[in-house]
Amino acid sequence: MRSIEFHDREKETKEIRAILDSRPTLITFVYGPINSGKTELINHITSELPDDYVVFYINLRTKFLASYDEFIESLFEMEMETAGALKKRKETLAELVSSVTKVVGIPINKEFLDYVFKDNRPKNAFSYIIKLFEEVRATGKQPVLILDELQKIGDVKVNGSLIYELFNFFIDLTKEKHLAHVFVATSDSLFMESVYSEAMLEGRCRYLLVDDFDYEDTAAFLEKYGFTADETAVAWEYCGGKPISLVELVNAKLDGKDVGSESKKVLKIRTSQMLSIFDEISLGKIKYSEKDIIREFKSFEQEEILQYDRITGKKIFLAGRNVFFIDPTQRTIKPQSRLNLLALREVLRR
Ligand SMILES: Nc1ncnc2c1ncn2[C@@H]1O[C@H](COP(=O)(O)OP(=O)(O)OP(=O)(O)O)[C@@H](O)[C@H]1O
Ligand SMILES: [Mg+2]
Repeated sequence: MRSIEFHDREKETKEIRAILDSRPTLITFVYGPINSGKTELINHITSELPDDYVVFYINLRTKFLASYDEFIESLFEMEMETAGALKKRKETLAELVSSVTKVVGIPINKEFLDYVFKDNRPKNAFSYIIKLFEEVRATGKQPVLILDELQKIGDVKVNGSLIYELFNFFIDLTKEKHLAHVFVATSDSLFMESVYSEAMLEGRCRYLLVDDFDYEDTAAFLEKYGFTADETAVAWEYCGGKPISLVELVNAKLDGKDVGSESKKVLKIRTSQMLSIFDEISLGKIKYSEKDIIREFKSFEQEEILQYDRITGKKIFLAGRNVFFIDPTQRTIKPQSRLNLLALREVLRR
């Protein structure tokens, strides 16, 4: 099977390594437009970490999280990299619990697990994880906790919002106990917006943007697959630096297809997806009018990125539909991808 190599993202890698080299003090929120390569970057960096880091990773994307129990279960499906005799291998926390050769040597018994699940109290589960991390530290290693797609727990309630309990837990792990590095990734710009304005997180976290590749990275990536200057120009014109789209184009080229016509094909699809919003408006499924949406699109007729003063309902709606990406740290708004920008301009031409 053909495999596309990870393209090094020097700047972001450096930033994350620097964080990992220092004492844990702040929660790191990794954010960026959809499919910009956040998960890929995190996985790549963690797979290359030396053995004195123990990474606990959960991706909530594939989890069904309607209740507290489901969240705790997903915590126990958290993968942990343990150094094996020859190479690193991944174990879930649950496997670790039941394995005889417990790397960190924590005795976990039935009573303890009952306690964790008791009374729907996240604190019990969190105190277990703290204990686990302390044991890891006692062996001279540094725990790193990574939660991908955290917005998925946004609606889970446990005597209040689970998300608040979690934020407190993260603050405890970083600023208070300096016990573990905590990275939270999300592709949901509305969730980021609410995190950014959350008073309890003020001064307790940092934000790390993982955006699409810039031109240099895009050109360097495509060059590895024999793209000519013309093909690179077409790829950049249609897909910008969106890694997932570039990978698609590379695959198309390797299959002997024409980069230009493939690019046009994807734009056609994206335009028709954009038009489906207007179908929904005609069907009365959306509270905004066609004029409202067109007005929003019009602001990107000439511009690629805009500064906003106030975030409006219409902008939030379009961010929720993954048409726009909002960066609350810079107060900027832009289409989620170059393809989205071109597609909305196509819509305006109709
Ligand atoms: N640095 C990279 N080198 C090569 N390919 C990459 C790179 N980053 C991302 N990709 C490609 O883009 C795809 C999407 O990346 P990824 O899933 O990491 O994005 P994401 O930002 O986490 O997306 P989401 O917004 O859905 O969480 C990957 O499956 C991979 O094919
Ligand atoms: Mg991701």
